[in-house]
Amino acid sequence: MLRTDCTPKRRSRHAGWILTLASACAAEPNYTPPPPPTPDAGFPPEPDRIGAPLSLYLEPVVSRPADLAIELEDGAILTAGALGLALVDTGTVTALGDDPGPIRAATPLPNGALVSGARGLYVLSAGQLQVSPLDAQLPGAPLSLLTVPGRAGLEVWMAGDGWLWLWRGDQLSDVRPGALPLSAPKLAYGAAAGGRSAVWVAAGGALYALVVEDQVTRAYPENLTAPVRQLAVDARRTLWVVDDAGKLRSRRADDVWRDHDAVAGVRSVHASLRSDEVWIETMTEMWRYDQTEFRKVNNLPAGRVLSSASQGSVLMGDQDGLAQVYGQRAVRLTGLKEGGLLLSSAAIQVRPVAAANVTTVTATLDDQAISVSPSPWNITLDPALIDDGAHRLEVRVAYSDGESATGTLRFSHYEGPPPSWQADIAPLFRDRCELCHGARGSARILDTPALWSAEIDSILLNLRTRRMPLPPSAPLTEAELGLVEGWQAAGFPAQ
Ligand code: HEC
Repeated sequence: MLRTDCTPKRRSRHAGWILTLASACAAEPNYTPPPPPTPDAGFPPEPDRIGAPLSLYLEPVVSRPADLAIELEDGAILTAGALGLALVDTGTVTALGDDPGPIRAATPLPNGALVSGARGLYVLSAGQLQVSPLDAQLPGAPLSLLTVPGRAGLEVWMAGDGWLWLWRGDQLSDVRPGALPLSAPKLAYGAAAGGRSAVWVAAGGALYALVVEDQVTRAYPENLTAPVRQLAVDARRTLWVVDDAGKLRSRRADDVWRDHDAVAGVRSVHASLRSDEVWIETMTEMWRYDQTEFRKVNNLPAGRVLSSASQGSVLMGDQDGLAQVYGQRAVRLTGLKEGGLLLSSAAIQVRPVAAANVTTVTATLDDQAISVSPSPWNITLDPALIDDGAHRLEVRVAYSDGESATGTLRFSHYEGPPPSWQADIAPLFRDRCELCHGARGSARILDTPALWSAEIDSILLNLRTRRMPLPPSAPLTEAELGLVEGWQAAGFPAQ
């Protein structure tokens, strides 16, 4: 049954300015407006580095009209266009019909996707398209959809003109960010606000971040004068926005904004939490930023950028078809989700970019050689031969011109009980993190399994790159890192 989340009124303060809270109650939420915007005269110019022109690698996906496309968790691609919806998986095309009407938005879900068409909200699950149970509850078909890892599992944000709804833990809530606008909303997730990964909303000329806590949703408005037309977040948690004047701006995780003058007349920006690459489109050009420099594309593909996909690629489409476009050679590994749990024997498909020029494919599992079947390259992961714990598969592809590319897949496997909060993660937290991230510490609080699961991507990134823990805590051993990875793969068991 659907319940509506009616939150108590509460006021919260962060860094001296007042925020608002979300409520599904009829009453107005308690709201104090943010300070008046300071004139936005542009941000400090820090010259952008411009690199050598970039040649792209194109992998055709399907030759049917595509004006929307997203990559799903299993590597399949969901595409929509004049011929309706279709699912493309390793060259196999499954038409899904045109029941939802023209598609407005889509977002991946575990084992499928959520799709919003002019005729309503649909769920794609196990290759079947059905009207979503949420459809009847919503004020209309969403214009923007977002799935984010929340404290109580997956959260789905749905926005239409003038409304914003959140589905989490089996509840649908009407999120009302006080007096902040909600007209023609666009959503993105991942850049931090108030020390937490936030949902960013560009609507009615305003830009603000929302952070949902148990009973309160805090809003963090930004002072930008030009309305934001489009927004995206990259793996460094940098927020990228394009304003009405076609200006590209970014906001780093430490809340420092920058204007980018390398590219003018920007039409759209695309990024993903899974990679460092940022793709920028103007009316006549395409650029890629890789966190060090902007590079202009010299073999501009047909079509428009539709979304960011794995390995730093983008999906590009037009009336003739859809292609996956890479800025460098890369190796995709499909057949098991990144960070997933190996339950039964799995065939991992090795899909190198520019496969025609590949000479050899070799692989290691935890630094031990593992065999790869001849083209089409496959690796069998047999759970009976794999120890309990977290593992890393690395595949190296060599090309005829002497270049090479690598792909990695992390996964976990357990015959016995997987790591749990109580037995494994809580002791690690108390020993290595609590000093700073506990109730009495000075860094952001991370003392519950809910907080860990909501911030797991950021935690793992910081642990893997050895940025955390800070001294005096000793760095995590590979085995300890494996506990955190295994706990995530197993779905965050409490005990
Ligand atoms: C000696 C103090 C200290 C210890 C120990 C420590 N941290 Fe941190 N951590 C910080 C500070 C300071 C920051 C930056 C401020 C903040 O985000 O609160 C930070 C930031 C983080 C962030 C956020 C980074 C970002 O990009 O926003 C994560 C995640 C994190 N720590 C995880 C951990 C984990 C997990 C442990 C234990 C294994 C740990 N830290 C141990 C001090 C510490």
